[in-house]
Formats: sequence, C-alpha cells, structure tokens
Amino acid sequence: MTKRNLFHSALFALLLLVGASSCSQQPKELDIIPMPRSVEYHRGTFTLSPETKFYASLSPESKQALARYLEGTALGQVAFADEATGNDGIELTLCDTATVPEAEGYRLEIGKKGIHLSASTETGIFYGIQTLLQLLNNGDGKSLPAVTIADSPRFPYRGMHLDVSRHFYNKEFVKKQLDAMAYFKMNRLHWHLTDGAGWRIEIKKYPRLTSFAAWRPFEKLNDWWTGGRTFCDQDDPRAVGGYYTQDDIREVVAYAAERHITVIPEIEMPGHSEEVLATYPELSCSGKPYVDADYCIGNEKTFEFLENVLLEVMDLFPSEYIHIGGDEASKNGWRNCPRCKKRMADEHLASVEELQSYMIHRIERFLNDHGRKLIGWDEIIEGGLTPTATVMSWRGEEGAIHAVKAGNAAIMTPGKYCYLDAYQDAPNTQPLAIGGYLTLEKAYSFEPVPDSLSTEEAALIKGVQGNVWTEYMPTPEHTEYMIYPRILALAEVGWTPAELKDWSSFHTRALHAVNHLRSRGYNPFPLDKEVGDKPESLQPVEHLALHKSVTYATPYSKQYAAQGDQTLVDGVRGGWMYNDDRWQGFLNSDLDVTIDLGSETAIQEVSAEFLQLKGPYVWLPKQVTISASTDGKEYKPLATVDNDISPDIDTLQFKTFGWKGNTQARYVRYQAQSNGIAGGWLFTDEIIIR
Ligand code: ACM
Repeated sequence: MTKRNLFHSALFALLLLVGASSCSQQPKELDIIPMPRSVEYHRGTFTLSPETKFYASLSPESKQALARYLEGTALGQVAFADEATGNDGIELTLCDTATVPEAEGYRLEIGKKGIHLSASTETGIFYGIQTLLQLLNNGDGKSLPAVTIADSPRFPYRGMHLDVSRHFYNKEFVKKQLDAMAYFKMNRLHWHLTDGAGWRIEIKKYPRLTSFAAWRPFEKLNDWWTGGRTFCDQDDPRAVGGYYTQDDIREVVAYAAERHITVIPEIEMPGHSEEVLATYPELSCSGKPYVDADYCIGNEKTFEFLENVLLEVMDLFPSEYIHIGGDEASKNGWRNCPRCKKRMADEHLASVEELQSYMIHRIERFLNDHGRKLIGWDEIIEGGLTPTATVMSWRGEEGAIHAVKAGNAAIMTPGKYCYLDAYQDAPNTQPLAIGGYLTLEKAYSFEPVPDSLSTEEAALIKGVQGNVWTEYMPTPEHTEYMIYPRILALAEVGWTPAELKDWSSFHTRALHAVNHLRSRGYNPFPLDKEVGDKPESLQPVEHLALHKSVTYATPYSKQYAAQGDQTLVDGVRGGWMYNDDRWQGFLNSDLDVTIDLGSETAIQEVSAEFLQLKGPYVWLPKQVTISASTDGKEYKPLATVDNDISPDIDTLQFKTFGWKGNTQARYVRYQAQSNGIAGGWLFTDEIIIR
C-alpha cells in the first residue's frame, strides 16, 4: 500500500470513528496524471460559474499568452479581471522562491470560495493550470474538489522523442503532440529531424537536403531500405516525404515554448546518414551514395558541412542542448579509408571507436564555442567521453551509469521501458511493430535511478524520455496509437516521487485519460480492451526438470542470458516477446543442452517452445532432435521434429517442438538446429520434461 492510500484509509477510519454523516465523502483520489507530490483533501467543492474570473499578478503579456492557451479548454470562459485580488475566483500569484522553491513547482489551494494558485515561475503557474484542467476534464467540467496540492517534479527532464525521418508528419501533428505533452507536464521534445530515411529541416546553405534528401522514390519504407536507399527530386511523381521550412520550425519551437516545452533538435552523425551521403557522396568514405551510412571522418568537408548545418540549427533552436545522435555507426568504411587512416595516424587514434569520439569531441567543442551543450546516444561513450557531454542511455541503463559515475549528466531511455515502437499488447492482436513488448504496466514500472548509484551520482540522472521511432508507423493515427497511453506512464515516472507510484491507481487514471484523449481527437490504444500477457507466462510450470542441472554445449548470448544456466528449468515461461528476461537467446548458433535429472526417471514427454519474429531475425529452429541416456554416454534418439513454418511470415509465430512416448532416462539432450540465416537468433524459455 502506498503512503497515499494509507492516508486515505486512515482518514476514512477517522471519519467512521467520529460517525460524521459526511463519512460517505471519503475523498476520491485525484484523477490526474502525473499524481502530485502531496495532496490534502478537504470537504466541499469549488464550482466555476459565469462570474468566475482570474485574478493574476502576471505581466500583461503572460496573461495574454495564458488566455490564448486556455481558449477552447475547460477554463476558456474564465476571463482575467483587472483587479489583482478577488474572492470567488482563481487567483494566480507569482510568489517568491521561499514560498515555492522548485522551479517547476506550484501550490494549489482549492476552497469552496475560491482557488489560489501560486508558483515562483510561470512554468509552475502553467503546471498548476494543467492540474485544474485535468480535474475539470475528468469531472463534471465545473466543480473542483477542495484540496491543497503542493507539487513539483521529481526530474527536470521529462521528454518525448519523435522520429520524423522514417515517416514524416506535418507541423500540425507535432503541435498536437506538444499539447498532450504539456497536459501531462512533460517538458522536452527531442525532435529526430535527420536520419538515413530522410532529411526534414530546411538548411538554407544546402537546399538539396530538402529538395532531394527529403524524398524517397518508394511508397513503403521497407522497399526503400532494401531497394538501395535512394532518393529523388521533390517534383518526381514517385516522391514520398516532406520537410519543415525554417518558418515551420520557428512556429513549432514558439508553440512549444508557450507550453513550457523545450525542443531539442537532433542532427544525426556519424551514422544513420544515408540521405546526406546520397546527396553529397563526397562526404562518405566510398565517395558513392550508399555503401554504408557513415560520414567520412577523415574528410574536412564533413566537418565544414556539419558545422554549417549546426549554425543554422542553433539559430532556429534556443535549446541549451543540441543532440548529435552518435548511435549505431557501422564504422565499416573508416577501417579501409585512406583519409580516415590518415586522421587516425595524425591524431594518434588507436581504433575506429576513438576516431568516432574524435568527431564527437570536435563537434562538442564547436557547440560549446557557440554556447551550447552536446547530448548524444550512449555510443558517445565509446572511445572516451568528454567531461561535459550528456548521455542518453538507450541500450540499457549501463550508458547512464557509466556517465554519472564519470560525473556526466544522463537521461534514461532504455529500450526495455522507454521504446514506444514495441508491441504494447499481445502482438498478434496489434498492428505490425518493430519488435519488443512494452505494456503500459511495464513502462510504468520503470525506476530511472539504479540502486547502484550514490546520492551525488543519482542527482546526475536528469530524467526520462519515451522514444517514438517510426519505421512501423506510416500514419499519424498509427503513431498516436503507439504513443498513448504509454507516454503517460513515463510522464508519471518522470514527475511523481517513486514512493507514491501506484500501478492500480495509475491504470484507472490512464483509462480516463485515454477517453479524454479520444474525445480530443487523438487515437490512443484502447486500454480497456487490453488482452495482456501470454497465458502460459502467468503461472509457473511444474515438471520433472525443474531446477535440475543443465549443461550447455552451445553458449547462450550474454545479451539474452535471461536467468543464466537455470533459465530453461526455472519453471518460468516466456511472455509474448524474446526480450523479457524469460526467453534465452542463441545468436548464430544451434542450441544444444543436456539436462541431468539426477537419477533414472520414467519420462513421457520432452518439449520446448520457440518463437519467430522476422523483423529482429528471431527464427524457429530448422529441426529439433531429442535424445535420452541412462549413463550420459550412450544416447538413444527419441524424436526428430522438422519446422514447418516459413521464415517469410511477418507476424510473431510460436511453435513447440517435442516428443511423447515412454522411456527411462537420467539425461535428456535437446538440440535445436539454427536455420542458418546469418545474424539469426534462436530463443526458448523452458525445456519441459514430464
Ligand atoms: C537508437 O535507438 N538507435 C538510439
């Protein structure tokens, strides 16, 4: 039970004890996301009337901005009074930092006679307004419960990332998502404006970036990916894509600022840059359009280009941080490129990792010289981190741990909890996704501060971000379906103190939020129809091999070790997806394990389930052989089972490969043969013996 519920129960008990007739008025938990830091419940309500006014100690410009913002909302009819104070109204007070010390914090007192909202910043006032709006929208639209709220966020960075390269969405779509972010008190949009699949920001010095690199001659992204990764002119009849003009960008940045959101632009380097290299092949090691996706780091022209781009980007984005990507460079071209080799020799760089970090450090100096800070994906650690870069940890939490232990700041966005491109429910009930499985509950369970950190290190974890990679999101509706409601879970993770988080309460509030979002024209996943996890995974399974010893003739992958040597006999079945620490993975390898039952045992069944998902190269075995032995030396074959499911199917497949019969054995050997596709995985969760 959380503290909040404890408080409710205690209050309820007290009311029962005094036998007050108002005991039926046990306060309903506030129906808002994220849950505030502290709420005191009082009796009664405040009701908006046509006479209700705002009394505000804000500048005329701020009042105007707020009035503009509130148009069309539940507070849209409330006008600003001329007088600075009044009863029966909503008083907005910019107070000193002694009263509300937190930069984004606010104090909200709702009484029967009026509302007092105070904050030491306009951001705090704005967030108090969001609380009022949510209470009105989730109630009858007029009455507000009498409460005192003291609120402020746990983390200063509460972000959403949006990839507009793989699929382009217009500025109206971006503004609509900014509206929702503000409503849930999120404050950073990480705008992934460039990637191999298309350049999306007008750069005056390089017009070909938007007349050519923004347009793919393919309807479907996957056809572009497999079809040479080429581009075409904007006026080509096949052209699919788009871009933002510099005016569009300014408009979005200003719109975000009115919602107290900072937009952080990302310009990808050195990898994920097919679109630039298609336009300016001289910036690649090969000198050709698409051989790999990396800039040539040996070439000064690469730096000239990137610095010119960044100058225009910095001009458009006032953000302190500029994101330079840094992820997933193949580094292939650099190894044999004369220019890169010369750069490595001249700069005494021992590896291509150090060559990459040469580039990152040089770009960081450039940004710093212009008063900005660098942020990048966790690969920027490879080859050495500068003292000032901020690390966005995506391949797990290790990048952030490494960064904060070195004294650098970090943002948590590990794939397992923060990648909103994963399936959010039983995959075969969902539109095709890139892979992975991230339910609302799992996203909500994320704790951004690892236990291993000291207090000083923990303070360098600046926040959390949900990532919206859009390879599998071809339409705006589909993209919203993937964002909502999972981003709400991360909004609460980023705002609410960990000890106040409560899944069941959040789930109820998220159901209401989904309805609200739908009423506002968003397309959220229908949370009320959630199917849930794979039924087998919900209960432990009893069988003869449980906790017996397993010998691996083929090693499992460290990356997908699940629970190590006991995974296949721990009684725990996997869920819908291979990355849940219940499925064990074997990369480019067969699976060959022997289970020692400890003594000769009568057995009637041996089976194991595998899964297949084409996108991430997870395959069913080509064939399974099961054999048994009494002495561990002589094995007799029990069964050979062939796969009959094609690797070409896009959707998630499961298949159990097993034997049934009657035999006596102490040792059971289970061999699953890989289908031989390079880079492929085998995953299984449990070898069941009965
Ligand atoms: C990433 O997902 N490549 C940062």
